Order: sequence, then structure tokens, then C-alpha cells
Amino acid sequence: MTSRPTSPRAGAASSPSLLLRALRGEATPRRPAWVMRQAGRCLPEYRRLRERYSFEELRRDPQLAAEVTLLPLRRFRYDAAITFADIMSPIPALGIPFRFAPGPVIEQPLRDAAAIDALPDPDRLDDGAIAPEVLETQRLVRARLDDSNALLGFAGAPLTLAAYLVEGQGSRAGFPAIRALAHADPAAFGRLLGKLTRLVARYLVSQVRAGADAVQIFDSWAGLLAVDEWHRLVRPHLVDLLEELGRAGVVRILFVHDAPQLVPACVELPAEVLAVDWRFDLAELRRLRPHGAVQGNLDPAILLAGPEATFAATKALLARVPALGHIVNLGHGVLPQTPLESVDALLEAVHSEARDAA
Ligand code: CP3
Repeated sequence: MTSRPTSPRAGAASSPSLLLRALRGEATPRRPAWVMRQAGRCLPEYRRLRERYSFEELRRDPQLAAEVTLLPLRRFRYDAAITFADIMSPIPALGIPFRFAPGPVIEQPLRDAAAIDALPDPDRLDDGAIAPEVLETQRLVRARLDDSNALLGFAGAPLTLAAYLVEGQGSRAGFPAIRALAHADPAAFGRLLGKLTRLVARYLVSQVRAGADAVQIFDSWAGLLAVDEWHRLVRPHLVDLLEELGRAGVVRILFVHDAPQLVPACVELPAEVLAVDWRFDLAELRRLRPHGAVQGNLDPAILLAGPEATFAATKALLARVPALGHIVNLGHGVLPQTPLESVDALLEAVHSEARDAA
């Protein structure tokens, strides 16, 4: 049975979403599925909206952002919506100007201790100072979403945000400016990660208050530093963030991208779900992490190979990874040129597993 966000709320008879049940470690009639970056990118409806509005206009207007958040659920049998926003959305609260071209570009990158220490203390920001448009989007979406669909909030991990703020933009060379800062001034590097940790913690707690059922922390650039530097300079901040969210009752999905060398260490971190990219064997992750849930992890490029290849690869993933505690997803964001039939094939493989078993 498929639930559409446009259907009336099912009220007392509704069952909590498959995703939320899987997050709590409960057995579900089938595996829940959603895909990273499902809200923009490959949808023709999104591209039509982009002919009329810039990305900035879409993400700043809660009515439009709520509409974009719901678009993928109108077309596909996903089990969750992910809020249409950007990892840069909380950054204006720190007073740092940036633009999108098409990725984030920061006019004055934070290159030294003086720039880092001039940033405000996130704990002293007013309530509502951190991305109020995102919270309003979530209130609108939650009111329109069927209870059988989960609403996910998200934020960038402290290191991933710092990578953009110090480099000034995306980097094919592995963000050398932040790696240099870690050596030039490790104390300032630590103060920057500390401030971003406070910002992200407040932001994610406020998202859950606004209606998000769980949050994903995107550590898209988790693997920039050497493993011992990560343990020394980065891990303590990630632990602070996850523990604070846990104390606030926030359900946490930690996505670690392009850092297979860190995955065994991330298994120990306090999060309900650990999500990895396609480079890491998800069955191996399941063995390393027998109790928490795991999420992933088809290579998004497989979908470019077409629906048959996608169906076969999804079936192979389901055969390798036990169903209990597996949230089906890609190993990174869905690519813009993805054929829609491939998304359908992925979801058909997930839904047919339950039908075949019944
Ligand atoms: O499902 C969704 O798309 C939800 C919303 C979402 C966006 N960005 C919208 C967006 C999410 C979850 C993000 C996360 C994000 N943004 C990450 C982490 C995830 C990852 O991919 O690793 C990162 C690193 C960014 C930074 C960013 N923003 C980049 C590199 C770009 C360039 C283009 C792109 O699509 O990647 C953006 C702009 C951006 N963010 C767009 C969208 C829909 C494209 C804007 C447009 O329509 O031109």
C-alpha cells in the first residue's frame, strides 16, 4: 500500500512510519527506503520550478520549499521526505555572507584565528535566529504529510561545514585550506569546530521541535584528515554533537561519505543509524554494528545504467544485508541525470521483497 502526502491524515488508525519503526530497531513488514538529495536534482517538476525561481528563492520561501520537499513523494513510493534546504542554511546566523554558484561560495573564507574568534557564540543567538525559514518549511510539511511518511531534517557535520567556510568553496583537491589550518593553528581549528558543533546542535534540536521525526548529519567531507588527526581534532566534536542530540531525544542518522578508513571508528559513535557510501560493504557494516541500524548504499551511478541494472543491484544488496535495521538508500545523492525509471526500479525491488515474502 502506498501513502501519498496528499491523502488525509489517517488519524488514530494510522501506523507510525516504517522508517521510524526501523530507527527504533523494530521489525517492519518491509525495509523503508528514501534517497539522498531526492528533493531536487532529478525531478522534472523541480526543474520546471527552477525556470521560474532561483535556488535561493526556493529555499528561502517556506511555501515553495515545502512544496519541493513533497514533490518526490508525489511521484515515488518513498517512506520519508527530506527537508528542502542546504547545508549552508544555518550559516547566515553566524553572519558569514555566501552565495550559490551552483555550490556554496563564501566571499571571505575564514583563514585564521582572528576570523574564527570574531564569529558569534552560537549559544548566545536568539531563538529563531538559526534558519527560521527551514523551521517554517518543516511545520508546513509536517501538517501536510501522512503519518506513514517520516520527515527528515538535516545539517552538515562540523568538519564538512568548516571545510566550506575555510576553503571558501567546494574543492576537487580535498579542501587544502582546512587541512593546512589543522596544522597551522590546531587550537583555532578546534574553536571553529566547537562553534559549528554548538550551531548544528541547536539547529537540529529546533528542527525536531518544528516537526522533523529524525535528522541526518551529512559528513560529506568526513575523510579529509589523516585517521590520527581525525581522532584527535574532529571526533571529540562529533561525539559532543551526537551526545547532546541524544540527550534532547533527537533520532540521529550519521552519514559518513568518502571515508572508509573511518567507518570502523564511526561504528562506536552514539547514533541510531550509521549511513555509508557505496565504497564500504554494507553487509560488513552490519556485522560490525549488530545492534544499531544501517543505511545505504547503492552507488548512485548504477541508476544511470538503467532500470534493469538498478533492479538487479538493489536485489543483490537486499540479499546481502539482513532486513532488520536496514534503511535502503543510495551511497550519496541521486545524480541529476538519473532516469526516473531507475528510481522506480529501486523502489520496486524494495516493495517486491515484501510481496514475495508474503
Ligand atoms: O533532497 C534534497 O536535495 C534536499 C535538499 C538538499 C540540498 N542540499 C539542496 C540543494 C540537501 C540535503 C543538500 C545537502 C548538501 N548541500 C550537501 C551534503 C550532501 C552531499 O551532497 O554531500 C552539500 C555538500 C551541499 C552543498 C551544495 N549545495 C552543493 C555542492 C551544491 C551544488 C549543486 C548540487 O546540487 O550539489 C549546492 C546547491 C544545492 N543544494 C542545490 C540543491 C537542490 C542545487 C541548486 C540548483 O537547483 O541549482
